[in-house]
Amino acid sequence: MNTPVSSTAKESSPRLRLAHRCSAPTSPAKNLTFYNKVIWITGASSGIGSALARHLAAQGARLILSSRRIEKLEQLRTELINSLQHQVFQLDLEQPEALYTRVQNAISDWGPIDILINNAGIAQRSRVLETQLAVDRRIMEINFFGTVAMTKAILPSMVARGAGQIMTVGSVAGKIGSQTRSSYSASKHALNGYMDSLRAEVWHNGVHVQLACPGWVNTDIGKGALDGDGNALADKVGTIDFGISAEDCAQDIATALLMHRDETIIGRGWVRMAPALKRIFPSLVNRIMRRKVYR
Ligand SMILES: NC(=O)c1ccc[n+]([C@@H]2O[C@H](COP(=O)([O-])OP(=O)(O)OC[C@H]3O[C@@H](n4cnc5c(N)ncnc54)[C@H](OP(=O)(O)O)[C@@H]3O)[C@@H](O)[C@H]2O)c1
Repeated sequence: MNTPVSSTAKESSPRLRLAHRCSAPTSPAKNLTFYNKVIWITGASSGIGSALARHLAAQGARLILSSRRIEKLEQLRTELINSLQHQVFQLDLEQPEALYTRVQNAISDWGPIDILINNAGIAQRSRVLETQLAVDRRIMEINFFGTVAMTKAILPSMVARGAGQIMTVGSVAGKIGSQTRSSYSASKHALNGYMDSLRAEVWHNGVHVQLACPGWVNTDIGKGALDGDGNALADKVGTIDFGISAEDCAQDIATALLMHRDETIIGRGWVRMAPALKRIFPSLVNRIMRRKVYR
């Protein structure tokens, strides 16, 4: 005898729940333009962040520029197209305690955030045996916990509106570890996993979580990189002049935002192929990485 299925039982069947979720109207809406979008960029005072600011301002976005060096941000703001419609917000990701309240105040002053670009980060140039634990912690604090704190400060307002994009700048180093980059690589791997989980959690709230993984980009990141004692390398390292330009990287990140790509690898040659190669032939890539020592 067939037992009648109650409507409540029908609604709670896993297949129906899945179908309902797949057609949920709150999946992230596609952005076809940056015009008038409010975009918060961390790490805007130099490199990829500054290039992103120039690119997005030229497309009509309204920007909030963040980092520690407020004078650099102010200078950038005045150079941008429509300079008066952009804001500067001083932020130290190493001190995230007051961040939540400050960000809520900023949102009430400047309106809801359409796109958060978690770009700020620092690098490392030291072998594991020569790196103090405090340095490992500091890199994780800024690159991982700072980014998590910023994301948690913005996310509730995006979920409440049922719309938003959170783009995090990871790295190819977040896919493959290399010598002298242990904690940097760990921080970017951690962001990778965190953002994958968050994407799965908030997709049905209309928020799209994205990751951009550049390879080498020609910026001054090496100058701020920490040695094993926690000192910035400053002029002891050169620029990454063999990498792609910050402008090209910014253009690819902007395209990934418009195309709503979950994840994008940015760069050329070996670095672009490396993450896929590592998945398919891990031992081969591990052998290659034993021989490569990046400066
Ligand atoms: N360049 C590359 O080859 C490359 C490759 C892959 C991924 N990436 C990633 O791309 C992002 C940008 O790097 P970049 O190459 O443009 O380097 P960059 O020129 O050194 O820029 C780093 C930015 O992060 C900010 N920042 C550093 N520490 C901070 C803190 N405690 N609080 C707030 N802001 C902080 C800096 O601003 P202030 O000093 O003013 O605070 C600066 O604006 C980073 O996440 C990096 O890991 C870079």
